[in-house]
Amino acid sequence: MDTVTRGQLGVCYFPEHWDAADWPSDAEEMRALGIDFVRIGEFSWGVTEPDPGTINLDWLQDILDLLHSHDIKVVLCTPTATPPKWLVDTMPDMLATGRDGRQRGFGSRRHYSFAHMGYRRECARITRIIAAQCGQHPAVIGWQTDNEYGCHDTTLSYSPVDLAGFRDWLAQRYQSVERLNRSWGNVFWSMQYRHFDEVELPNQTVTEANPAHWLDFYRFTSQMVAEFNKLQVDILRELSPGRDIIHNFMGRILDFDHFTLGAQLDISSWDSYPLGFLDQQRDLFDTPHRLHFARSGDPDFQAFHHDLYRATSGGRWWIMEQQPGPVNWAPNNIAPRDGMISLWALEAFAHGAEAVSYFRWRQLPFAQEQMHAGLLRPDRSHAEGFAEASAVAALIREVEWPTTTKGDVAIVFDYESAWAWNIQPQGETFDYFSLVFDIYRGLRQLGLSVDFLSPSMAASRMEDYAMCLVPGTFTCDEAMANALATTSSRVILGPRTASKTGDFAIPDTLAPLLPDAISPARISHVESLAAGLRVEMRDRQGYLHRWREFATPVGDAAVLASTIDGRPALLRRGQLDYLCGWPDSQYLDQMLRDACHAAGIATINMPDGVRLRRAGNKGFVVNYSDKIVDLMALAGNISVFHGSEKLLPSGFAIIAFDAPA
Ligand code: GAL
Repeated sequence: MDTVTRGQLGVCYFPEHWDAADWPSDAEEMRALGIDFVRIGEFSWGVTEPDPGTINLDWLQDILDLLHSHDIKVVLCTPTATPPKWLVDTMPDMLATGRDGRQRGFGSRRHYSFAHMGYRRECARITRIIAAQCGQHPAVIGWQTDNEYGCHDTTLSYSPVDLAGFRDWLAQRYQSVERLNRSWGNVFWSMQYRHFDEVELPNQTVTEANPAHWLDFYRFTSQMVAEFNKLQVDILRELSPGRDIIHNFMGRILDFDHFTLGAQLDISSWDSYPLGFLDQQRDLFDTPHRLHFARSGDPDFQAFHHDLYRATSGGRWWIMEQQPGPVNWAPNNIAPRDGMISLWALEAFAHGAEAVSYFRWRQLPFAQEQMHAGLLRPDRSHAEGFAEASAVAALIREVEWPTTTKGDVAIVFDYESAWAWNIQPQGETFDYFSLVFDIYRGLRQLGLSVDFLSPSMAASRMEDYAMCLVPGTFTCDEAMANALATTSSRVILGPRTASKTGDFAIPDTLAPLLPDAISPARISHVESLAAGLRVEMRDRQGYLHRWREFATPVGDAAVLASTIDGRPALLRRGQLDYLCGWPDSQYLDQMLRDACHAAGIATINMPDGVRLRRAGNKGFVVNYSDKIVDLMALAGNISVFHGSEKLLPSGFAIIAFDAPA
């Protein structure tokens, strides 16, 4: 069995949607295009088991043989994102319930609760059947578990089944209900429970539920997702050994811990729809920005997820679904600018992807996604994406892609913190993802390559980076505190970093909860700033917005920057800086430049919409803007060895940094 190596091109294929007479031409045309592998089977439970216990895998066997004869590899999927109607009817309580208390219905997908043991048994059964019959097929190189956990807001579920699971989980976690009452602070508003069986879900309360209650519900749910996935992983490893186990994550889904899940996988992948995301994520992207990048996508959103998901499974990562043209699910479904369908794939390879797979082979003329492009149109003619995918196929064979992807700087990303600040934003514009995303963008505008670390990874690997940012990480455990005490990296903490205990309480000594010997600041109080309300910087451009903290220096901490009213905005003690608010892009830029300078990190002023990912002395440059960019003006001592010195809109180039001046 061969394995997929670097620079592989794939496509998502749904043979069950088409007449089997079309399959041979599909395979031939895929091969001619340069497709190395297809992903198949992800929603096929209804075909595989049309009636309870009646298994039909002949179609899968046939298509595997056919693809194998064309030397096309296969990533098989477990079909568990779409349980068939008969199955739902046998146990209707497997359906998830929304936050509004209403049960979700059959008729689309992801209609299940992760905590339902009966459904888990069914998933294990169908996974076992498919893996036993097809798992050793020589075409099969990998497996995708389920599809996009969390998509369509399907992580948190509030059914009686979830409630029962939550109570058990709490009983195990706290052992005694007195302990739970103490940890949550249930003396407030007479919320004490006498037994674990009295605990309710946090969704249907009159006003807000206890934040500690919510946080535990997120922790419980995240564990349910991990257990659900693990069940399939274990079966696949047993019955289909030697194949890579993969899941396809989604953009900006934060409701479960992707680091925990990624640790079970060989490869994290994600589904990248740049134009859909740009139009959909209205709180991240204002109207001028959305119009400016309407046909190319935001220049940082894709790379953010490439870098984040690469970290979740120890470095190996893929794009499992790449936008091929207009999608059907965004508020507006815009056609990509010429060249972008290629460029998105090339950018992924530049960030270390082993494989990129377009979604999907052929546009289906019926059902929900009939308006979603494919590489082929419904009549088999070539859609716009076809030629661009061919260009990628040619280029990935020509170009040497980076094997090392270590970045210049690291950002700590923490799913619990996303839950915490979603539970208690304390201001309508405080959002964890946006905060981290602003910082990520600021770093990339300085030409820096960014790696993400989970808090536990950061505790051991902070030293690998000259600079590490830890924005909004809600708690600081002992391992992290030890790392901070001994680090030689320049670390920027805040805002809101280490501002709570693990029980979601304000620390006895106020925030941040760091050892006295290293803490640069004591935060006496905080304020959230209404949209448009700014606190200008003193002697610097820019301002704080959204969030501000009132800090006093601790120990020998120095005030590096202040706001106009004379309050500290940035404090420094030893290797630790503390940022006392949410900086606008101008002050962020200044702060990052200064910190890079202090840490000896070289920066480059990247033109609007142009981004760089470095690997050793090589740099991969992508142009999301609609302007021609002179690469030679980026920095001294560079040479261009792939692409043109004048980088066109949608252009891709590879530069070297060590050429003679
Ligand atoms: C993804 C999903 C695919 C398809 C695609 C359309 O979220 O995994 O099955 O629905 O979106 O863009």
